[in-house]
Amino acid sequence: MNESTMEQPTATPPPVMNPNKALWEKGDFTQIAETMRQSGEALVAMLGITPGIKVLDLGCGDGTTAIPAAKSGAQVLGVDIAGNLVKAGNERIRKEGLTNCSIQQGDATDLQDLQDESFDLVMSIFGAMFAPKPLEVAKQMVRVTRRGGRIVMGNWIPSDPTLVAQILRISSAYTPPPPEGFISPMLWGVESHVIERFGSAGIAKENITFEQDTYTFIALFSPKEFVDRFRHFYGPTMNAFEAAGKNGKASDLQRELEDLFESQNESNSEEVTSIPATFLRVTVMC
Ligand SMILES: C[S@@+](CC[C@H](N)C(=O)[O-])C[C@H]1O[C@@H](n2cnc3c(N)ncnc32)[C@H](O)[C@@H]1O
Repeated sequence: MNESTMEQPTATPPPVMNPNKALWEKGDFTQIAETMRQSGEALVAMLGITPGIKVLDLGCGDGTTAIPAAKSGAQVLGVDIAGNLVKAGNERIRKEGLTNCSIQQGDATDLQDLQDESFDLVMSIFGAMFAPKPLEVAKQMVRVTRRGGRIVMGNWIPSDPTLVAQILRISSAYTPPPPEGFISPMLWGVESHVIERFGSAGIAKENITFEQDTYTFIALFSPKEFVDRFRHFYGPTMNAFEAAGKNGKASDLQRELEDLFESQNESNSEEVTSIPATFLRVTVMC
């Protein structure tokens, strides 16, 4: 038997990695989410949730909006792609003693476990906007919402002068251009794109309304420490620092972000950071 006819050991193929999932599991978003609790509660309070309604929170993270919705009496299912956030969210739910809320792992582009028209309200606050395939995401959200029900999305707005869009603008200057065909999550913050996406899922544009709203990040530490949290725990910013580090520019990125956070901070106390950020609130009547 010559070498070419000898049986070769079969190599195990490397596991296929979902880059969207890897990005959100990379850090620990709970460290940022802790600064978003008050606005999460305020947003849920204005949704007029009545006891017993069925709510899906898509891209729910560790439950910033799912938990207040459950406290309002809704039956809440959270879905998130990141296993670490699903675990952290279910732990928070357990500590709160809530029996009407749970979080499961899933992908907004493919909600195959969820039945058609099974929710009165589908909310996605800075969640589904980060999934790839926006047309598929819109289709899935419409499919699982009952006729007469509502979808509410919170989406960051591109080129907005407030915090999140500016973090993105600064970070993108330090990172390589995205791969061809990449669709920016921020397009969910542009009304014409939202109309087109839900339009392709069968929703007339008259049934979609838009409002600019504010989410305030409140942290019990300084703006500088807040930047450090993003640097060490927020996947997209971690990636920007890794790329900047390869070009010897990590300290430039740090300085730009510290200037941004300090200039946007509205707190007078050195121990507290309070930064308002504008977002687009989208309401879809199904
Ligand atoms: C900016 S965080 C917001 C989390 C939460 N909604 C909140 O307000 O704290 C974005 C969330 O979307 C989730 N996510 C990203 N892509 C997703 C996808 N394809 N399907 C489901 N969740 C996704 C992430 O894992 C992360 O928890």
